[in-house]
Amino acid sequence: MTDASSTPALPVTIHRGDYRPPEWQIPDIALDFELGIEATRVTAALSVVRAAAAPAPLLLRGDGLTPSAVRVDGAVWNDWRLEGSDLIVDLGDRQAATVEVDAVIDPSANTQLMGLYASNGMLCTQCEAEGFRRIAFHPDRPDVLSRYRVRMAGDKAAFPILLSNGNIIESGEGEGGTHWALWEDPWPKPSYLFALVAGDLVVNRDRFTTMSGRAVELGIWVRAGDLDRTHHAMTALKHSMKWDEEVYGREYDLDRFNIVAVSDFNMGAMENKGLNIFNTRYILADPDTATDADYDGVEGVVAHEYFHNWSGNRVTCRDWFQLSLKEGFTVYRDQSFSAAMGSAPVKRIEDVRVLRAAQFPEDAGPLAHPIRPDSYQEISNFYTATVYNKGAEVIRMMATLLGPERFRKGTDLYFARHDGEAATCEDFVRAMEEGGDIDLSQFRRWYEQAGTPKLHLALAQEGEDWFLDVTQTVPPTPGQDDKAPMMMPLRLAAFAMDGSGAALPDTLATLTDVVQRIPLGRFTARPALSVNRGFSAPVIVDYERAPGELAWLAAHDDDPFARYEALQQLMLDTLVAAVSGEAKGREAVIGAVAQTLTGAADDPAFVAEAVLLPSEAFIGDQMVTVDPDAIRRERLALQAAIGAALEREWRAILAQAAPPATDLTPAAKGRRRLRGVALAYLAASGKGDVPGLAFAIFSNADGMTERQAALATLAHGDSDERAHALDIFYQRYRDNPLVLDKWFQVQAWSQRADTVAAVAELARHADFTLANPNRVRALYGAFAGNQAAFHQADGAGYRLLADLVIALDPRNPQTAARMIPPLGRWKRFDEARQALMKAELERILAQPGLSRDVTEQASKSLM
Ligand code: PHE
Ligand code: ZN
Repeated sequence: MTDASSTPALPVTIHRGDYRPPEWQIPDIALDFELGIEATRVTAALSVVRAAAAPAPLLLRGDGLTPSAVRVDGAVWNDWRLEGSDLIVDLGDRQAATVEVDAVIDPSANTQLMGLYASNGMLCTQCEAEGFRRIAFHPDRPDVLSRYRVRMAGDKAAFPILLSNGNIIESGEGEGGTHWALWEDPWPKPSYLFALVAGDLVVNRDRFTTMSGRAVELGIWVRAGDLDRTHHAMTALKHSMKWDEEVYGREYDLDRFNIVAVSDFNMGAMENKGLNIFNTRYILADPDTATDADYDGVEGVVAHEYFHNWSGNRVTCRDWFQLSLKEGFTVYRDQSFSAAMGSAPVKRIEDVRVLRAAQFPEDAGPLAHPIRPDSYQEISNFYTATVYNKGAEVIRMMATLLGPERFRKGTDLYFARHDGEAATCEDFVRAMEEGGDIDLSQFRRWYEQAGTPKLHLALAQEGEDWFLDVTQTVPPTPGQDDKAPMMMPLRLAAFAMDGSGAALPDTLATLTDVVQRIPLGRFTARPALSVNRGFSAPVIVDYERAPGELAWLAAHDDDPFARYEALQQLMLDTLVAAVSGEAKGREAVIGAVAQTLTGAADDPAFVAEAVLLPSEAFIGDQMVTVDPDAIRRERLALQAAIGAALEREWRAILAQAAPPATDLTPAAKGRRRLRGVALAYLAASGKGDVPGLAFAIFSNADGMTERQAALATLAHGDSDERAHALDIFYQRYRDNPLVLDKWFQVQAWSQRADTVAAVAELARHADFTLANPNRVRALYGAFAGNQAAFHQADGAGYRLLADLVIALDPRNPQTAARMIPPLGRWKRFDEARQALMKAELERILAQPGLSRDVTEQASKSLM
């Protein structure tokens, strides 16, 4: 529980400009653990060396630790004091010393899942960003790098497996049924990359031979019974290792690479050096329990964490303001990897969908911040879509501007120059400039300015010469009223729609100015413009086009992403018009969907993405004031119209046998995805036989992709089949936490009118628990993303989410704080909803003893 007396009245704001180099370095650390679920004794021996010119006391951060003894160079030392929860050791004018501190911690009481905690009888750690200070007193800042030696001892029956970073040096038996292991990591690392695991685990072992011929022993450690579900993760790991060698020239650097899966985890996974710790969600997969999307998630996250070994571990961050240095780059790397493993256009479509769903709203709201923030109160609140996903877009733009060869020169230079260092975003950009021989002075604004740039486009004509006039604006964001134009790559092409005349082939323009004119060439009639192809810049394009032009592009553009965009824009225009009571474009949408179904029939994965209607939230983002009810109504109406008009096509797709669930090729995944989309359209059309059809698919499914898609479709309705299927699903999977999460999730996603009440009821279900972040996200995360339900006019949805935040905060502030942003979007809604949302934020803030995490998010959300 949060101790109210230790919560500062006003959270302290940390500023990027206040960075000072550390006064002490710690080349070596020896940690000694006597493990126990309720009491673990930790002795930390830090060999400290003065880095500052003038003597300064040694400041060691602590969080919830009480030192039981302090020794310096082996002798008891009394010259120390506690300042708040930190330990100050006065070392006089010594240049170097070994400082040893003993403390005892209680992992079983650690419900925040930061530091050393117990999960299912096993002990594990999570240290990023500032969790190490909950294990041992330490500066706990990423620019202090040390070689770690870790000795751990514990009961052999309770903890048969003892793991830490690096290589195992020695192990042995102790007294009274105990055993011990000594691990050593030769690579200096910051404290946030420390990890330890002790428990009863089984391993899937494999080997990888690196490009220089070194053998690496790979291990994926899970609970007994889960071993059969680790094969996909292992394949993904080996593919990642190979890909990083081939594409970036990066080789693995230890004899072992271990991954441990734990079921209680705040985030997706963690890149601890040589010992990644994963949320089970991103390791365990088999066709019966995981969907194709889950499989892709496993592959992407395994790759992400592995790639951190270079982008994050060998080159780490100087301070937490530089978080995007490792996260933006690593997301870009995992996106490129997944694109190479499957379909690149479909992967790009998915990544852009995530960016628009999670990052654009953040950039337009009260929590907007640059990818390199200027200040924070609680760093955990800055593991955001902006730092990660917009950060990846910024790296992608540099890669686009430089081209593959020069980009590789830039990354080679970056890794060579900063290996073993704690670097900054500026260091990365400079390496790109020098390696890529390009001036990125203006481009640096992407690191400084928040807000999604908007490009307003207009065509101009001089005789038969056509031009594109681009006007760039960057909206004001909290603390940043005036913005300067950004440098960005804009890929475009132009087509003569009658197929005659000239076409401008794929062209890369570089935008730098507020207003800029780009020549398109000679056309006898107004050309169709294909713009921001491949989503070359993370911007909003404001360009009015007739439905006919969009439909033409959806059919004829030679860039698949641009075809997708054209159809999405057509749908979006139609839906936005419908919400304001104007009927337009519906026939063009139906025609374009029909055309896509036949025209791209050989690429079902692409078709499935392209014919999907924009989400309710994304429709809302286009409006001045979001009207969740009208959006729900009009989206359902368009879905029903497409469902009915193309009924034969949807039925034909469903009449073909589904590929076997064990077939995980991109083609098979695409066919299953399209079947799910077809079923949803058919269901929307309201045809009476659909619940029966969905139930048959649910019952006959040989894998989770089909089963979940059918269940989700049924969950929207009120058929007998719905209740029956939910019950069967529950009975079958009640003992599998990851699958049970899906059971909560599909109900929270439901478009039924009673979803708020249903979610409240599910929160009282025996299988619901606040102790497990996955379960909390499955129910409340899904619910907060269900726009019409969450924004129910009486405010019941807001109350439900605020109740959760209040109940969860004392237990797990990090996960509680992540639930606040949906309430912070109040400015986008009508006055009645605004008042209700603000009242809930105020109610949260009025709670005594609120964490720093929730305080920061809730108070900023009210501004
Ligand atoms: N660094 C992790 C990643 O992105 C994310 C993470 C952050 C995990 C904080 C746990 C805590 O790979
Ligand atoms: Zn990461």
